[in-house]
Amino acid sequence: MRTMQIAIDGPAAAGKSTVAKIVAEQLGFIYIDTGAMYRAATLKALTAGADLTDGEALSALLKNVDIRLEPGEQGQRVYLDGQDVTEEIRTDQVTKSVSEVAAHREIREQMVQLQKELAEGRGVVMDGRDIGTRVLQDAGLKVYMIASAEERAQRRFEENRTRGIRTPLDVLKMEIEKRDRMDSERKESPLVQAQDAVLIDTTSLTVPEVASRIIGLAKERLN
Ligand code: DC
Repeated sequence: MRTMQIAIDGPAAAGKSTVAKIVAEQLGFIYIDTGAMYRAATLKALTAGADLTDGEALSALLKNVDIRLEPGEQGQRVYLDGQDVTEEIRTDQVTKSVSEVAAHREIREQMVQLQKELAEGRGVVMDGRDIGTRVLQDAGLKVYMIASAEERAQRRFEENRTRGIRTPLDVLKMEIEKRDRMDSERKESPLVQAQDAVLIDTTSLTVPEVASRIIGLAKERLN
C-alpha cells in the first residue's frame, strides 16, 4: 500500500494518542507522539532546575538532547538521553510545566526539526498541537479532534484511576482548561484547526468509532 502522512491535532486529553496508535497500527504506519517529546524536554529542564521562563537558557540546555521514541512490548517507550522516561513524563509536575516550556520559539524550532526528520518519507501518524499547521503542512490527511472539557476530564480521570492517581475530577478539568488556554493563546504555533483539517467531535463517540472514521478517510485518500 502507498504511504501517507496523517496529522492529528487538538486540545489536551481529546484522545488523540489513543486513536493515533490504533490508526498507525491498522495502516502499518509509525506513530509519533510529539507531546511526549515536549514532555521529555520539560523533564530534562525540571531535573536540571532550569528557569522555565528563559527560552534561550532552555534551548542551550536542550541543544544536544537525545529524545527517542522506540517500540516496546507494551507500546511506545520514550528515552531521554538514553534513559527510559516513559512513566516519568506523565507525572503531574511535568504535565503542569510542559505548556510553559513548549511556548518558547527556540524549543519549538528544535522539536519541529526533529519531528520533520522522523517523518521524512515514511507513512506516519503524528499527533500534537501544530502538526497540520506547521510540522506536516502537506499531510495527506489532517484531523482536528475535539471533545468537551467535561468529557476530557472524565476520560483523564478514568485513565488516572487505572494508574493509581487520584486527582479529583474538578481539578483535572481546571488543569485541562488552563493547558488549552496556554496552548491556544501562545504566540508561536498556537493550537488552531488547520484550514484543510477534518473536524471530529469525539464527545459522544467511542475510540473504535473515531479510529475507523480516520482509517476510512485515509483509505479514501490513498486510493
Ligand atoms: O499531547 P500532550 O498532552 O502530551 O502534550 C503536552 C504538551 O506539549 C501540550 O500541553 C502542549 C505541548 N505540545 C505542543 O506545544 N505541540 C505539540 N505538537 C505537542 C504538544
